This record gives sequence, C-alpha cells and structure tokens, in this order.
Amino acid sequence: MKRFYITTPIYYVNANLHLGHAYTTVLADVLGRYHALMGDEVRMLTGTDEHGQKVLEASRRLGTDPRAHVDGHSARFREAWDRLKIRYDRFIRTTDEDHVRRVQEALVQLHANGHLYEKDYVGWYDVKEERYYTEKDLVDGRSPDGNEVAELREKNWFFRMSAFQDWLVEHIESTPGFIQPDSRRNEVLGFLRRPLEDLCISRPKSRMDWGIELPFDRDFVCYVWVDALLNYVTGSGDPGRKEMAGEWWPASTHLIGKDILTTHCVYWITLLKALDIAPPDSLLAHGWWLVDEKKMSKSDGNVIDPMAMIEPLGVDSFRFFLIREMVPWNDANFGLDSIVKRLNTDLANDLGNLLSRVTNLADKNFGGRLPSPGEAELTGLRGGWTSLLEGWQERVRENDLYGLLEELFRLVREANRMMESHAPWKLVKEDPEKAALVLAEMAESLRLSALLLEPVMPDKSREVLERLGCSADGVLDWQAEARQLQHGKPVFPRIDAKDLRKTLENKSGKTPPPAKVEEEGLVDFEHFSALRIVAARIEQADKVEGADRLLKLILDDGSGKRQIVAGIASHYKAEELSGRMICAVVNLKPATIRGVESHGMLLAAKTRKKLTLVSPGEVAPGTPIG
Ligand code: MSP
Repeated sequence: MKRFYITTPIYYVNANLHLGHAYTTVLADVLGRYHALMGDEVRMLTGTDEHGQKVLEASRRLGTDPRAHVDGHSARFREAWDRLKIRYDRFIRTTDEDHVRRVQEALVQLHANGHLYEKDYVGWYDVKEERYYTEKDLVDGRSPDGNEVAELREKNWFFRMSAFQDWLVEHIESTPGFIQPDSRRNEVLGFLRRPLEDLCISRPKSRMDWGIELPFDRDFVCYVWVDALLNYVTGSGDPGRKEMAGEWWPASTHLIGKDILTTHCVYWITLLKALDIAPPDSLLAHGWWLVDEKKMSKSDGNVIDPMAMIEPLGVDSFRFFLIREMVPWNDANFGLDSIVKRLNTDLANDLGNLLSRVTNLADKNFGGRLPSPGEAELTGLRGGWTSLLEGWQERVRENDLYGLLEELFRLVREANRMMESHAPWKLVKEDPEKAALVLAEMAESLRLSALLLEPVMPDKSREVLERLGCSADGVLDWQAEARQLQHGKPVFPRIDAKDLRKTLENKSGKTPPPAKVEEEGLVDFEHFSALRIVAARIEQADKVEGADRLLKLILDDGSGKRQIVAGIASHYKAEELSGRMICAVVNLKPATIRGVESHGMLLAAKTRKKLTLVSPGEVAPGTPIG
C-alpha cells in the first residue's frame, strides 16, 4: 500500500482566516481524499504558526495575553476546517509541548554539529513578513514586498545555509518533480544563482520573547520561520516517539502558496540536510486567489471571508469552485461572475440537470427501475469513461486535478448531448426497452461522476448516489447493474447572482461605501477590537473644581492606578462611588479636561435624564471585557 503524507502551511494567528487559507487547506484535503480513494494510506497535517513578533503585536493591539490570543485564533481555524469538511490527522500548534521540545532538540543538534555561529547583525527587519533584509535587498527604503523596515543592530545566531547551496542546486536539478510546477522550480534555481547568505535563526529576547528558547543561549528565542518549518517533521508521527522524524516522514507533498517558496525550497530543505533528515518528496506551489483581478489586501477592503461563502453556496459547491477554478497553478480570480458561471454551468446545468432528467424519466416511465446498461452501448459513453478510469490515478499522482475534472465534465456534457440525440422521452413511446437502456447508461455515467467527485464534494456526491440507488463505496468501473432510482428536488440548485452579490458585499469584509458608513455609523471590527476595555475598581472619586458635571476618578485597572475624568457628577455623588466596579476603556490617547489629565473613559448606559454605570460584576480589576 502506498503512503501519502500531505501538509499545508501552518497559518499565522495574527490575522483572520481568509480565502487563501481555505483554498490551500481544501486542496490538501481533496488531494488526500483522492489518494484515499486510490487505496493509499493518507495522513494530512495542518495547524497554526503561533510564535513571533507579528503574533505578539497582534495580541498587544487587542490587549490580550499572547497565549489567550493564540488559543482563540487557533480554535477558529479548527472550527473553520470542520465546517469545510477538512479531514486532517493532526492539527499542530507551534506552542504544542511536543513541537517545542523537538524544535529545541533540532537546535541543539544543529549547534552541536557546527552548523550555527554567532555574529553581530546589522541590517533591516520587516516585521510584517518577519524577515531580515540587508541594505542591498531594500527597494526605495522598503522591503522587496514594499513593507516598512526597521534598522537593527544586534548579536544573533546564524545557520550556515550557504554551505548547502551546491548540494541544494544539485538536488533540485536531479530530482524531477521536486518543486512543482516547473515555473516555480526555475524561479528557485534562478534565486540560487546568486550566492546564498547564511540564515539568522535567533531573535534576542530583549526585543521579542514570544518564541522557543535556544537551549544553548537563553537570551534568545528561535526565529519563527525555523520553528514553523520544523512542524512538518515534529508533526510527522506519534508525539511520544524518540526520533526527531516520525513514522510518516518524509512528506509526500508540502502544499504551499507561491508566496512562501523561498522559505520552503531553500531554508527548509537546507535545514533538513544539516539535520541529516531526508527531504520531502515534493513541494507544490499554487498561485494566488485574486479578487476582481486584484490581490486580496486589508487596505483595499477586498479580503474574502471564506466562511461567508458557505451559506449562499453550500460547502460542497464552494469546495468544488475552488478546486475546479484554479488553472494549475496560475492565479485565479474570485469573482461573482466566475462563481455563478462555474456553479450554474457545471453543477446546476450539466450534472444536476442530467440527474434530474434521468431520475424523472425513470420515475415516470419505469417506476424508477432501470435495467442493467448491458452490452448494447447505445450512447457510446462507456468508452470515454473507461479511458478516464484508466488514467485518473496517474492524474492524481501528478496533482493534475484540473485535468481530471476537465475530462470528467467533458464526459458529463457528452452525456447531455447523447440525451438530446437519443431523446428517451420520445423513444419511450416507440421502444420503451431501448429508452430504458439509454437511461441506464446515463445513470451509470452519473454514478461514475459522483464517485470521482466524492473527494471534492463528499456529501453532494452521496446525495447523487442515493438518487441513483447506488452505494458510496461502489466500484470505479463501468458496471452492468439494474438500479432503483429516486426522483427528487434538484441536488444542485441554480445560484442566484443577485443574492450572491448581496452576501458578498455584506460579508466579504468589503468596506461599505463611505455614505453608508455615515448613514449607519458602521465601524470595522478591527476598529472596535482595537479598544481595550477592562474591569476596574474606583478607588477614589473627587469633584473637579469649577466643573459641575465632572468627577476625577482614581481607578485600579489591574496593572496599577489610572486617573480618568468622567462627566457623571449629576448622576453620582463622589462619596458613593468608591469601591464600585466599572468598565473602563484604557487605551485612549490621554486628554486634559479642565486642567485635569484623563487616561481613559468609563462605560455607562445613558438616556437624556438618567445615566447608569455599566458594571462588569464580581471580577478582578484588569479582567478584559470584549
Ligand atoms: N505561517 C506562514 C507559513 C509557515 S509554514 C511552515 C504563513 N502563514 S499565512 O497565514 O500567511 O498563510 C500563507 C498561506 O496561505 C500561503 O502560502 C497560501 O497557501 C495561503 N494563501 C494566503 N493568501 C493567498 C491567496 N490570496 N491565494 C491563495 N492562497 C494564499 O505564511
């Protein structure tokens, strides 16, 4: 039995899940399911990348503790994968105890074998991408990706990556299919034509301590990319094993987006070599999903939330669109028109309509009972299916899902043509037996389509098979069997472009047009979540001289004393406030009100006449509210 171990990148927990994350993960799942259908033993690894400066900054921005922050985000990824029907075998988190321990073992081993050295580092750091750049890498004072960079001067640990450059080039050149597609392989080889620099693998704790400590130099934590890349090995088997690599290593395929080609094809492969661990069999880099031909970005307000797509499209159809639409491995466009066109053409018209016509005619004329298609081959469909069935496994092994689905839908369209030319609804009047045979051949074509689409649309495929009176673990071969069909509501209803547009606009994270913002006072989630609100105890309250309505309050906000000025004197007497728990916004810019400094605000319910302080209940000062 062959084994197939597929991995996805582990996703950063500093930002929300978006379409790109969903695509890679769905693709890994679909590839895994196709391999399982071929009888391979399959393991899929996915997870979250939880250390590093970006994550730390995101948690600070939200005023949460980094651990609570990563727990929450990581759980959200898992929930999303459950909803998208992803069958993973392990969800690894870089904060998992066994991962941390093995990363430290790997670092010790690299150190002991002379692959690491210390050096003063002078250069530029791109916080967004967590990458170091030298002066010559910068473009107009920014990183090659256009991000802001900060100047850095510090001691660090370096990995002698340059020592493996020749070996790496030789390995890529002599291993066909190692980096797929060829265009990406050539890109990496192009990059390797320049001398490779050594890789800085540490971060001083004095600057950033949210990471895995270097066991041989406790002032440092491990560079987040080294920590993250190691997940593929640390998560490759039984967490309690002795060896660094688990029983599933080497991975069959690391699935990645084209954005992380260098880290995977250069950093990772040389690190493995230095650790004396076999390289993965292949790396497959897919393209970008664009939205209306533009890269998704928060600032353009065109980030697609994949979860918002589930409701209007249905999970299976959404998965289908993602897999069917990306021409390997170019960029693909995520747009309303392409979704509507793809789903209505392939699923509603070609597949759904054929199913509906066949079950309907069988139901009306033969009580749903169809004979075995037999040997007559009235429609000639069998030949096409036989050749697809001979080649599909090869296509899967070559990751050519696009070609497989193209061929499958070509056959479905051919079946529709045969339906028109044989017109069983007419034929049934002259030669019912022949009409039943034509329908039986259609039903067999539909059965094979459903079986081969099962990895992409697990539940919809089952529904189709049920309508056909077939089992989901049927033989992938043209079968001569009589069947009892069932007619019913369309399995693939048409998508309404208008409804979808509405959902897309409301839920994709697109910023509503400015007029609307003013009208409805809508605020981005990000703006809202940037507010840090905590429970606080009023320690002391005093009148502000010369201002009837103001009180000066001294709060205990869990991290110390905080002074705020609040316009509540007409509703509360200073004496009755001391000891009361309130909700305070603690990250507002300080203001001076009537000569008194105010470092925050409190929350209150307010009508024109009455104001009531919002109480967090019996919780400790400093407890976050959100
Ligand atoms: N944490 C690193 C990966 C470490 S792996 C050892 C990381 N994380 S990420 O959250 O930024 O996810 C990157 C991956 O998400 C890409 O490689 C790609 O697989 C997917 N996508 C992100 N945006 C994408 C598109 N717009 N289109 C398609 N996929 C893209 O990088």
